[in-house]
Amino acid sequence: MEIQRVILNNIGLFENLEIPLAPTEQNPSNITVFVGNNGAGKTSVLKALATSLSWFTARLRTEKGSGNPIPEDDILNAANAATIEIEICDSSGASDNPNQSEFEHHFKWTLAKNRIGRKAGYTSHLNDCTRLANRYRDALTRDDKTSLPIIAFYPVERVVLDIPLKIRTRHTFLQLDGYDNSLSQGVDFRRFFEWFREREDTENESGISEDLLNQLKPLLETNPDAWQRLNEFNASARDRQLTAVRTAIRQFMPQMDNLRVRRKPRLYMAIDKNGETLNVAQLSQSEKSLMALVGDIARRLAMLNPALENPLGGDGIVLIDEVDLHLHPSWQRSLCDRLIATFPNCQFVLTTHSPLVISDCKNVLVYTLTNGELRQLPSQYGQDANTVLLDVMDTSIRNEKINAELNDLLDAIQDSKLTEAQQLLAKLTEELPANHLELVKAKLLLRKQELRHANH
Ligand SMILES: Nc1ncnc2c1ncn2[C@@H]1O[C@H](COP(=O)(O)OP(=O)(O)O)[C@@H](O)[C@H]1O
Ligand SMILES: [Mg+2]
Repeated sequence: MEIQRVILNNIGLFENLEIPLAPTEQNPSNITVFVGNNGAGKTSVLKALATSLSWFTARLRTEKGSGNPIPEDDILNAANAATIEIEICDSSGASDNPNQSEFEHHFKWTLAKNRIGRKAGYTSHLNDCTRLANRYRDALTRDDKTSLPIIAFYPVERVVLDIPLKIRTRHTFLQLDGYDNSLSQGVDFRRFFEWFREREDTENESGISEDLLNQLKPLLETNPDAWQRLNEFNASARDRQLTAVRTAIRQFMPQMDNLRVRRKPRLYMAIDKNGETLNVAQLSQSEKSLMALVGDIARRLAMLNPALENPLGGDGIVLIDEVDLHLHPSWQRSLCDRLIATFPNCQFVLTTHSPLVISDCKNVLVYTLTNGELRQLPSQYGQDANTVLLDVMDTSIRNEKINAELNDLLDAIQDSKLTEAQQLLAKLTEELPANHLELVKAKLLLRKQELRHANH
């Protein structure tokens, strides 16, 4: 299932905006990225997509289900009514009849909102949304292991809550719970933890717990065959859904392994980092947010695709606002590639402030938003971060004042005004770190000029 296009009418600051999403002919990847200054409208686009898709997940649950309405505050201030039109392509469950296929694969629905007390300007057309949801419900009725598409929105307010030590209520997690809070709250580590523990309890019931295994290890040292059989038995009892989550986390953070719940001395979530066992609460904010994000996507895919050997191959749509949030630059750089490698069949719509996110992946579709207008950018693949900052993000690479002073310094050196250059250099040396590249260069240039003058 993928969004081909969305058209916003009077939503946020957009009067009329049509946005085709990747994959397109030119950009065959599954990733669309929006960049733009604060207030450019990036979040509005993602929120509109989430609002529209919420009708699909609601109607998947019940035939006449209602999703989220367009909030009145989101209607363009000068307008009385707004619409979100969405075009979806979904080929699951369609017949092979080529005459039917165009109609069967293509879905288009419109969600409308009129200001209270105003005459209705637009009406909603949700027939196709119902038709699509019905198709999945029919399939579920025939086979309760049918794969469902992930639909998830991770807003900026996604937080990594503290991991609860006590879980008061035990939940049972069903397939459709793969959509729980998926369009409103986003990552909630508490839920992730509860789910993980629940699954792991079952896993341990059919396998051998880590604690027991550790106790058995010294006893079986003399019998390597038995030890190996025991480990093989345990591997086969591994829970498929947990394996998916662990695999996804390892793909994004290769130094992390074996996420698990430890029950002694007290309940906590443990992970091995470079071979050392840590409490997840001890990880950095950056590590925790990436883990929660990746783990949550993997968890939902695993729940929604009960029959897939590798649930990470499940399809669907994932929206992530400010994907670089809390992330270390080296992770920002490899993010798109890793998303594609780990979740090959998901369509991603991302927003970012980071040049690194868009400079390191081929074939992503990049848009900038300025003054309510959309512009597609040529590929930024392989560009260095400074160029992307200057070209795309319209931001000075350096602080303006420092930049001006560095330029003055270089001019002074060039013009052989040595005393002035020395003064400027002394001033900048106080302000900048000793290993500042431009400063080091300027020092060398000045030194060269001084020597040249001394020789005359
Ligand atoms: N109902 C509205 N009418 C007109 N402009 C709006 C409306 N709602 C929001 N905006 C404008 O849209 C901007 C919010 O855009 P947002 O999507 O949050 O930007 P970004 O995520 O790119 O920072 C606000 O700065 C505001 O100027
Ligand atoms: Mg925003």
